[in-house]
Amino acid sequence: MFKYSNKTAVVTGASRGIGKAIATTLANNGMQVIGIATSEKSLDAIRDIKNIIPFCCNISDEKSIEDLYAFVKEHSSNIDILVNNAGIHMDNILLRMKTEEWKKVLDVNLNGPFYLTRILLKDMIKNKRGRIINISSISGTDGNKGQSNYSASKGGLLAFTKSLAKEVGKRNITVNCIAPGIIETDMIFDLSDTVKTDYLRRIPLKKFGKPEDISKMILFLCSDEASYITGQTFYIDGGMSLN
Ligand SMILES: NC(=O)c1ccc[n+]([C@@H]2O[C@H](COP(=O)([O-])OP(=O)(O)OC[C@H]3O[C@@H](n4cnc5c(N)ncnc54)[C@H](OP(=O)(O)O)[C@@H]3O)[C@@H](O)[C@H]2O)c1
Repeated sequence: MFKYSNKTAVVTGASRGIGKAIATTLANNGMQVIGIATSEKSLDAIRDIKNIIPFCCNISDEKSIEDLYAFVKEHSSNIDILVNNAGIHMDNILLRMKTEEWKKVLDVNLNGPFYLTRILLKDMIKNKRGRIINISSISGTDGNKGQSNYSASKGGLLAFTKSLAKEVGKRNITVNCIAPGIIETDMIFDLSDTVKTDYLRRIPLKKFGKPEDISKMILFLCSDEASYITGQTFYIDGGMSLN
């Protein structure tokens, strides 16, 4: 059996979708989880889950990250696991893309993980252990029409993962990336039926993924059994990236 009970994790975007599944899975397996979202209202969704401590933070704002760090230190001396899951999309074809749409997506999806990882890494280095898991996307590896901002942010996260894995491996810290395909969350609710049908046509397993398909992999990456895995990207996409 994996030993999770004395571990503490920070999970961003924990109020909904994939992040909520990750926070719940880790908490159900005995970890203490600090779950992050943008508002007290959205955090209501996880307030009553055992072993989850909710905290409101805008990860794209450095001051908000400093407040989060102070809160984290109040609750735990050791942060063992960081899951950079929070993400947004603001889709548009490039010719119509507003600078604001470009910057906002890069700020949340790429700058946020940078700020948070940098601040939590100090303690991981001091403790000589840590697991960092970044949630990218197959849009980050394959690109996607109308998502140049999102794809750039997610591709950046992949490169960030590999670079950091090389930097901190000697400190007993692993850094890995998950590239989900199409997962049933709020993020895909606004897709048209035509787009959904086209995606399903391209997925060999002929169905969309569930948030738990991602959270089970995260649980494994947090385990002692995954201690020799670093710098890798795991596609959880029903085979979509094979096309
Ligand atoms: N769903 C998919 O098909 C899919 C596919 C590939 C990759 N992904 C990636 O997987 C991750 C989770 O996706 P999802 O579908 O679960 O998304 P979601 O249902 O839209 O949830 C997004 C989460 O991120 C939080 N968040 C957004 N902006 C934030 C900010 N500035 N600071 C802190 N938290 C913030 C949200 O908090 P609030 O509730 O407070 O807004 C929410 O908890 C994202 O990085 C996404 O890009 C998803």
